[in-house]
Amino acid sequence: MPARITAPRGTRDLLPEESAGFARLEALASDLSARYAFDRIDTPLFERVELFARGLGESSDAVEKEMFRVSGAAGSEEERAEWALRPEPTAGIVRAFVEHGMHVRPGPLRLWMLGPMFRYDRPQAGRYRQFTQWDVEVIGDPGPMVDAELIELAHRFLAEAGVRGAVAHLNSIGDAACRPAYRQALLEYFGAHEDRLTDDSRRRLRVNPLRVLDDRNLDPDLAAGAPRSADHLCAECAEHFAAARALLDELGVAYELDHRLVRGLDYYTRTTFEFFVAGREGQQQALAGGGRYDGLAELLGGRPTPGIGFGLGIDRVLLAAEEQGVTAPVAAPLVAVVSADPEAFAERLRVASVLREAGLRVRPDGSSRKLGKQLESAAKAGAGWAVIVGQELDAGRVVLRDLAAGEQRETLLRDVATQVGGG
Ligand code: HAM
Repeated sequence: MPARITAPRGTRDLLPEESAGFARLEALASDLSARYAFDRIDTPLFERVELFARGLGESSDAVEKEMFRVSGAAGSEEERAEWALRPEPTAGIVRAFVEHGMHVRPGPLRLWMLGPMFRYDRPQAGRYRQFTQWDVEVIGDPGPMVDAELIELAHRFLAEAGVRGAVAHLNSIGDAACRPAYRQALLEYFGAHEDRLTDDSRRRLRVNPLRVLDDRNLDPDLAAGAPRSADHLCAECAEHFAAARALLDELGVAYELDHRLVRGLDYYTRTTFEFFVAGREGQQQALAGGGRYDGLAELLGGRPTPGIGFGLGIDRVLLAAEEQGVTAPVAAPLVAVVSADPEAFAERLRVASVLREAGLRVRPDGSSRKLGKQLESAAKAGAGWAVIVGQELDAGRVVLRDLAAGEQRETLLRDVATQVGGG
């Protein structure tokens, strides 16, 4: 027998029993996007490596270590093109904004997306190589009202998803005016304690000293004494941050200031945030993360345009909700369509079609087995009702059987939907 082929490491199959929970969160994402007046956008699953290198930064983990490279057909000109599966959606969305001249549309633009992202990271619980994000972006709004609005939106998603105890971590990492001095302060501080840094941090220190702060193995005492970006903000950034926080207070959205929250992608400016379940604040446990990227459009060849957004990990939120005992809603009652005549396929299909039009969830039996066998497998498949099709169909009537009670009665086909309580 040939060897079996398994799914690639870090990916997973969503089997039917798992996909109901997933679908519930996808529906919530779509519903909340509509309630918050976002319009859907979809960009390709792969883009030029250059987009991510420029947008997220050469030294970000997503580009440096986790890029999933793609090549074109063997031997073609395109094979040499440098493409990668998207590790995140923001760079692609801002690329599309610039490419399609969307700045001329009445702004600010409010865009949302839902789909798979790819990062070639070491797989572990809650960290996959393919995962699904719900992403929202507001482009063309300098804030700070929208900063608070988006944090409240992420908060609401988690609440409506049934995740209890979600907390926002909040920071501001300044902008082009004040970040250089902060970088310098970090460089000096960590430079003086280089012997206490991990190898990874020593390397980060040279390329982007802010990223030393999110080294998961950083000595906690060293981290506690490190310069804080909130103390190095220029007047404009400090004012923006204070205003965003005041609005969150007004909205009653709780948050914790977290001076180590610098985020892993280089495009961020000013407000950054991540959501965790309180007490579960490890790096693989962030349920959502985002922030402002006021310089990204310009970096991608567009005119200077402020932006802010977040990505929420559907896989992780599902895990968190399941751990807290949240279950997917029960599907609508299932109706089987069967008949004593083993060859009445056209009649079964026709009746199924009428019932579906009335909104029911219907599964016609496609076999030529005896009626008893058809009823048995309907019950096994979880059907609560069977519609038995026979001669009386000519008069618009069928037999409706309650499979649990084992009782049946003749009824008009058009009344079945009201009698089973669906539709
Ligand atoms: P991110 O923090 O890299 O941000 O990802 C957002 C969320 O995606 C995380 O909080 C987590 O829930 C989920 N996630 C990330 N990596 C994985 C993984 N390997 N497996 C499972 N879930 C994962 C961004 O991607 C930014 N684009 C967010 C953003 C939008 N910033 C501004 N606009």
